[in-house]
Amino acid sequence: MEITLEVNGRTYSIAPAGRRLLAVLRDDLELLGTKLACGEGACGACGVLLDGRPVNACLLFAEAAEGHEIVTIEGLSTGRAAAVQAAFVAEDALQCGFCTPGQVVSATVLLERTPHPTREEIHETMAGNLCRCGAYPKIERAILRAAGEA
Ligand code: FES
Ligand code: FES
Repeated sequence: MEITLEVNGRTYSIAPAGRRLLAVLRDDLELLGTKLACGEGACGACGVLLDGRPVNACLLFAEAAEGHEIVTIEGLSTGRAAAVQAAFVAEDALQCGFCTPGQVVSATVLLERTPHPTREEIHETMAGNLCRCGAYPKIERAILRAAGEA
């Protein structure tokens, strides 16, 4: 059975066949910025926005996303998201880059909700985004830079 998904402002008809949103985004829509790492909701590499809220696409069944506005890293290229990405580049806040899309999604939401976060607020909000390369200090600096405080 086909469903309709709204992704990055475009409408897609897809047959999810019981798959998770992450699989549909990557395999059907070829939106490869959203990553599969743990596959069990523990790392944040698969972070996307669902009606503006960050969710782990590896956990969410695609059917459950129907009727909601989905935004992936590919749709986050303007405004605050652009500032966050520029700050990640300026601070060299990545090594392999695998976690970076999810980090950018979470950091963008953080700054939209809290334009000038404390370090504690950054740690709290970003706790769900793991970085196996350990780039945490630079990621924190990038977020502070994007907030205009670095
Ligand atoms: S791949 Fe989804 S949380 Fe790790
Ligand atoms: S930069 Fe490699 S996992 Fe974060």
